[in-house]
Amino acid sequence: MAQAARALRARIPQDPEIVVVAGSGLAALADIVDEPVSVEFTSVPGFPATGVAGHAGSYVFGWLVGRPTLLQLGRFHAYEGHATAVVAAPVRVAVRLGARTLVVTNAAGGVDPDFAPGSLVLIDDHLDLTHRSPLAGPVHGGEARHPDMSRPYDAGLQQLALGAARDLRIQLRRGTYAGVLGPSFETASEVRMLATLGADLVGMSTVAEVITAKASGLRILGISVVTNAASGVLGRDQILVHDDVLRVGERAAVQLGALLKCVFREPT
Ligand code: HPA
Repeated sequence: MAQAARALRARIPQDPEIVVVAGSGLAALADIVDEPVSVEFTSVPGFPATGVAGHAGSYVFGWLVGRPTLLQLGRFHAYEGHATAVVAAPVRVAVRLGARTLVVTNAAGGVDPDFAPGSLVLIDDHLDLTHRSPLAGPVHGGEARHPDMSRPYDAGLQQLALGAARDLRIQLRRGTYAGVLGPSFETASEVRMLATLGADLVGMSTVAEVITAKASGLRILGISVVTNAASGVLGRDQILVHDDVLRVGERAAVQLGALLKCVFREPT
């Protein structure tokens, strides 16, 4: 981790204050920063190559309404066979560089039937159903052994996001995200189970990064782009195709970018 942080620091003009993780199909978020400087994951010591369509696998340093920001375009998923320590590595590197705020975004299936494709949802809480903690094993430098997870998503940032959505006339719903391993989409019965457990959204990322950031005391804002109704929500004949998920994400990324610029326009 130290080596990766040193290598990245040598390539960017300043340490970041904010780290933004862009999920599947959300690479257009790169446009929210000024004076971008790209660093491919393949040139970061210790990072494996990414293998998912829609995941460029790079950091982009730039200025988000004047604030030094590291965008993480693409992520490592546990379903690719990566250990959760690898999934969490890009966030740990950002923390080492000084980031104190994590914005985590993802593509998610709507378990709540009211979440139409293209909706933006503020993540209120999550259910970690991957059962693979990134904190298992020795404690990483500076991280808590048993971080409090009673309220992982920062209430102040949530209020700013809701205010920004109002100003921009963007509908921002709220919900609980169920993080699952994947890579297959859920069965209709599994989606009914998730709804019973209190989930409004389902996706294959995010929880490991949030747990890692929380262990270092970061403030966290999470926003999902609903790319599809989760399996079975639209009835028995519904099928899910990953390419459709990416396409919806690309359109919503523009709105999401505008929202984030608005959230960080004032000191947070
Ligand atoms: N399920 C799990 N992950 C997802 C989905 C889904 O329906 N859509 C986008 N990511």
